[in-house]
Amino acid sequence: MTQAKPIVAITNKIPDAGIKFLEAKFELKIGPTDRTLKSAELLSFVKGASAILPLLGNKIDGRVMDAAGKQLKIVANYAVGYDNIDLAAAKKRRIIITNTPGVLTEAVAEHAFALLTAVARRIVESDKFLRAGKYKSWMPELLLGPQLRGKTLGIIGLGRIGSRVAEIGALGYDMRVIYFDRGKKNRELDKKIGSEAASLRKILTASDFISLHVPLTPQTRHLIGKVELETMKKTAILINTSRGPVVNEQALAQALRHKVIWGAGLDVFEFEPRFTPALKKLDNVVMTPHTASATHEARDAMAVLAAKNIIAVLAGQAPLTEIK
Ligand code: DGY
Repeated sequence: MTQAKPIVAITNKIPDAGIKFLEAKFELKIGPTDRTLKSAELLSFVKGASAILPLLGNKIDGRVMDAAGKQLKIVANYAVGYDNIDLAAAKKRRIIITNTPGVLTEAVAEHAFALLTAVARRIVESDKFLRAGKYKSWMPELLLGPQLRGKTLGIIGLGRIGSRVAEIGALGYDMRVIYFDRGKKNRELDKKIGSEAASLRKILTASDFISLHVPLTPQTRHLIGKVELETMKKTAILINTSRGPVVNEQALAQALRHKVIWGAGLDVFEFEPRFTPALKKLDNVVMTPHTASATHEARDAMAVLAAKNIIAVLAGQAPLTEIK
């Protein structure tokens, strides 16, 4: 009698690069391509799974783990961030949690600069202007914005992505880089690019551009609110490719509306997939739908890494990127 294959519950379709690794070994259950499963649906979807491969929009708590059943060994998050997973609940049940660090660093860092450039050089506003037939003649003061080169870039959170953004800023745009990483210094990076650790207040007051790269934790929720926005330069641009709730979105919308800062580039939102309606009306914000890691390379590599973590754990081996 052939033994039934372990079930891997993949909450939404991931790139084939990852599916290929899994389909030979396991029975795959794949969720919808166009929407996030509701919590009640998720409970029945994971039933019987030995591995769950969720996306960042799936809240994986003790209830979901229990709904899967005792055979559940691993939750392989298809993201580097893991604020959607209850780590304590997993630990209690001896379920391994993995994420996808490293493989999306370039994509997210590039996107942070794409947003920064778009805001500084008013790319979306210019595009709208042109399409609306408003371009009548070349004018010296039409759609001006700040140059990137030589400015001060403040990085909040100097993990892999924050460090890469720092490097691109320093090496590509000759920026002075200052960073805040809970008081820690990165001497290697400092030596390489001339960056400097600074206090959060210094980042807020001295930076021309601020890019957020912290995980979402109780300490980082609303790290940037009204007071912090008012502390920034009037000409500052804020970029958020980390997690939406790190910024108080209402306060940001107000600050942008009243030109407390020059502009913002947002890839993440406080109550995703919704966003503060007031932002829609503002030309000094550029928004993308959480697509910072959306390169073919990164999304394929995330799928492969998540798949390899599952294969390892279900074979009784150590995963590649466990969150402890
Ligand atoms: C992550 O990986 O945490 C991103 O937000 C999505 O790629």
